[in-house]
Amino acid sequence: AAVIKYQFDIQVKNVSRLCNAKPIVTVNGMFPGPTIYVREGDRVLINVTNYAQYNMSIHWHGLKQYRNGWADGPAYITQCPIKTGNSYVYDFNVTEQRGTLWWHAHILWLRATVYGAIVIMPKQGTPFPFPQPDREQVILLGEWWNADVETVENQGNTLGLPPNMSDAHTINGKPGPFFPCSEKHTFAMEVEQGKTYLLRLINSALNDELFFAIANHNMTVVEIDAVYTKPFSTQSILIAPGQTTNVLVRTNQTPGRYFMAARPFMDVPIPVDNKTAAAIFQYKGIPDTVVPTFPHLPNPNDTSFALSYEDRLRSLNSPQFPANVPLRVDRNLFYTIGLGRNPCPSCVNGTRLAASLNNISFVMPRVGLLEAHYSDTAGVYTTDFPDLPPTPFNYTGAPLTANLETAKGTRLSKIRFNSTVELVIQDTNLLTVESHPFHLHGYNFFIVGTGIGNFDRAKDPAKYNLVDPPERNTAGVPTGGWTAIRFRADNPGVWFFHCHLELHTGWGLKTAFVVEDGPGPDQKVLPPPKDLPPC
Ligand code: C2O
Repeated sequence: AAVIKYQFDIQVKNVSRLCNAKPIVTVNGMFPGPTIYVREGDRVLINVTNYAQYNMSIHWHGLKQYRNGWADGPAYITQCPIKTGNSYVYDFNVTEQRGTLWWHAHILWLRATVYGAIVIMPKQGTPFPFPQPDREQVILLGEWWNADVETVENQGNTLGLPPNMSDAHTINGKPGPFFPCSEKHTFAMEVEQGKTYLLRLINSALNDELFFAIANHNMTVVEIDAVYTKPFSTQSILIAPGQTTNVLVRTNQTPGRYFMAARPFMDVPIPVDNKTAAAIFQYKGIPDTVVPTFPHLPNPNDTSFALSYEDRLRSLNSPQFPANVPLRVDRNLFYTIGLGRNPCPSCVNGTRLAASLNNISFVMPRVGLLEAHYSDTAGVYTTDFPDLPPTPFNYTGAPLTANLETAKGTRLSKIRFNSTVELVIQDTNLLTVESHPFHLHGYNFFIVGTGIGNFDRAKDPAKYNLVDPPERNTAGVPTGGWTAIRFRADNPGVWFFHCHLELHTGWGLKTAFVVEDGPGPDQKVLPPPKDLPPC
């Protein structure tokens, strides 16, 4: 194992897209930011120095950070922000994970421009459980706003107005030729015929689940969220914000130019036609004048594609990489997703949107929750987050009034060390028609079941997949449906759990788990590093 060091300078830089230049926050002046390359077993030290006039904090999305929430990064959950002029070293080990993950700012909406890939190579001498690719390429799917992102965020969170949706989707920071002034902002990947390419796809968009396809080329899915899957071939993939997907592509077509394209799964709240990002998959030696072929993408709201695609995602579950699904459950949790309005005297309509889990809209604390937990400081949070919604109701029936009541609070759920947890997340399909990608920090979990309508405790668990369910860190909860996840709470600390649609997170669709220390000396939260940023 090696010690890998990176320096991240947070700096503001002028970047132009869609005929419009604006200052954006970057890492090392790059947009998207640098890729982190590590090998399983390495220790990683990333020194983040903040030269921008914004508070900063960086999250290593999907890294488990065993006992080491101090390096996890969500602002006010595991640390206070790195203030202008200050530095903080994220110091962590990469253990028992290999594949593609990513990093992003975890404060306000700054992740709109502050993000990049993490590539974890398997241990030396451990080959991939699929054909060795000849070459590989990171593909970051994102969004671009012409307006200042802070202004957009405030519009969404504070004023009680719906925010501007982004002006473009992007592939490696570039929208592609279907947008004004964007011919020169088109990502192109040169390929050679007869080779195998590994594409490391990451959805770093703020608010959109995306379809992705390459014209004339099928993709073989081999890994999701840094977990190997049973390989399967598909024309398109579906990827939610926070998720990663590795695919193999054979360059076995007539040498030519082909578009790679990404567009939203859901067409809310505006039509998608002007939001399709495109990049070029170009065979070597083909002139740039050749007009590329456009891929077939599923139609917006193609739920049947989404369901069958999700159903094909299975853990590899080989002797070398077994899926250790908890078969018995110590703690059953059931969370409803609600969306209502809270009074807001300063807001345009006198109210603002409030999203909730079990009717509780999360209030961000002013000091780090992990510090409060570690030092036993009272008054920062409570551990009375309810295991069940206050009153059961017909979650997906109409009219829905039971989830309009929204209480506010920094309420967490306390979990016993090493207990097995099942959490069913139930959408209540109120003011929204979106699916919700829920992300748990500090863990992977197994998606043992999912369905449309109300979860039925008497019938649905019998249909769970406890053999080779997909193992991820971010799971979609279907519109008007439910998703059941299981994990073993073997990582002590305070772990954020939230919808990875930034709009919903801002409205309060989040909570955190306090996983208690275990009895052994190596089952406790590590002491905080000396340079942990103060509040
Ligand atoms: Cu990628 Cu808490 O997020």
